[in-house]
Amino acid sequence: MRTQVAIIGAGPSGLLLGQLLSKHGIANIVLEQRSADYVLSRIRAGVIEQGAAELLDEAGVGNRMHRDGLTHDGIEISLGGQRHRIDFQALVGKSVIVYGQTEITRDLMDGRLAAGGQTLYETADVSLHQIEHGRASVRYRSGGVEQEIECDFVAGCDGFHGVSRKSIPEHVLKFYERVYPFGWLGILVDQPPVSAELIYASHERGFALCSMRSRTRSRLYLQCRLDDHIEDWPDGRFYEELRRRLDDNAASALGRGASIEKSIAPLRSFVAEPMRYGNLFLAGDAAHIVPPTGAKGLNLAASDVYYLWQALMEYYREQSTAGLDAYSARALQRVWKAERFSWWMTSILHCFPESSGFDQKMQRAELEYLLSSRAAMTALAENYVGLPYK
Ligand code: FAD
Ligand code: DHB
Repeated sequence: MRTQVAIIGAGPSGLLLGQLLSKHGIANIVLEQRSADYVLSRIRAGVIEQGAAELLDEAGVGNRMHRDGLTHDGIEISLGGQRHRIDFQALVGKSVIVYGQTEITRDLMDGRLAAGGQTLYETADVSLHQIEHGRASVRYRSGGVEQEIECDFVAGCDGFHGVSRKSIPEHVLKFYERVYPFGWLGILVDQPPVSAELIYASHERGFALCSMRSRTRSRLYLQCRLDDHIEDWPDGRFYEELRRRLDDNAASALGRGASIEKSIAPLRSFVAEPMRYGNLFLAGDAAHIVPPTGAKGLNLAASDVYYLWQALMEYYREQSTAGLDAYSARALQRVWKAERFSWWMTSILHCFPESSGFDQKMQRAELEYLLSSRAAMTALAENYVGLPYK
């Protein structure tokens, strides 16, 4: 087989890149180690920046998001049992869309099917060859049979545990990492959200977040210990703990529905530089991870895809490698700003087990300053709705 761009991974970055390339006549094949159903069963992000929404529109898959997604003009921060609103529209004139990653993935899969794009699911032992220079190739096993695809470029969109980043010689990459001393326990439940907007709660027992997927489906999170297991958290305990971390109004609006999904995610900041090695380009979680607090993971994957798509178009239309040569530096500029915002949101809202009395006073002062200063709230709003791509 031969194609122009081999895309490893059918998560949001791989499928979005595939869709944008196909729309502009650039041949591509997506290889995914899991089944389509498995990919769709993973509950992940829920907040879409305007820039990412525009890119989904550009890819021709934004209709359902505009129809079913919820436009949010702000968020609430709960501190000491009091809620404070950060009004994005008033501060920066922008909004975000609350629409699940699962739905985006489904829209992208449907779009790819309609466009006749090729996705190979359940490909085992994917390996990359000759990515340093010249004709690259991707080998994999499907139904026990070895296969090979020759290509001009490989897009490594295979997430944090994927094979792409690991195919780059170690001495070429530099890693930057922070692992946080807690996790997020999340549940999905078919009951109305406790409030119209997301509530980010800072509490002495730990952080909590009340998010949603629709007017009838809530996504709820608790800061938990790294050694917690979901078996330790039956729904009753989850709701009891969440109620304690919320203000009275939110606590009394909280139902007790049975969870339909429950998972624990560790929190990590991670960047691998550069995001290119020869003909291999990394995008999304393959190159970087943010802690979820700023809702940036999926949105950052979208901006990487934007830069890579533009660079590939420039290459195929104008035979210029300028965009490809600039890709890593361009993407990383925005990546680091989102890393900073996610790290900052995480550090102001969570309880850090090792923090000193001084650290706790600093955190409280930072939050009180934020909630009393239009300038500080504007900075939060500007980052939350998404920094510009250009
Ligand atoms: P992924 O979504 O990870 O997709 C990569 C794909 O590559 C997967 O389908 C994988 O199966 C496939 N793959 C991996 N290895 C191979 C291989 N060797 N060969 C072929 N295919 C391979 N972000 C938020 O903003 N808010 C959240 O609440 C949030 N929650 C999260 C919870 C969890 C448990 C995780 C892991 C992430 C969460 N994120 C969240 C982050 C967000 O979901 C990611 O940033 C986003 O999925 C990145 O998309 P991606 O396409 O780059 O990577
Ligand atoms: C969601 C996750 C986040 O990390 C966040 O900051 C906001 C919302 C969510 O899953 O809905």
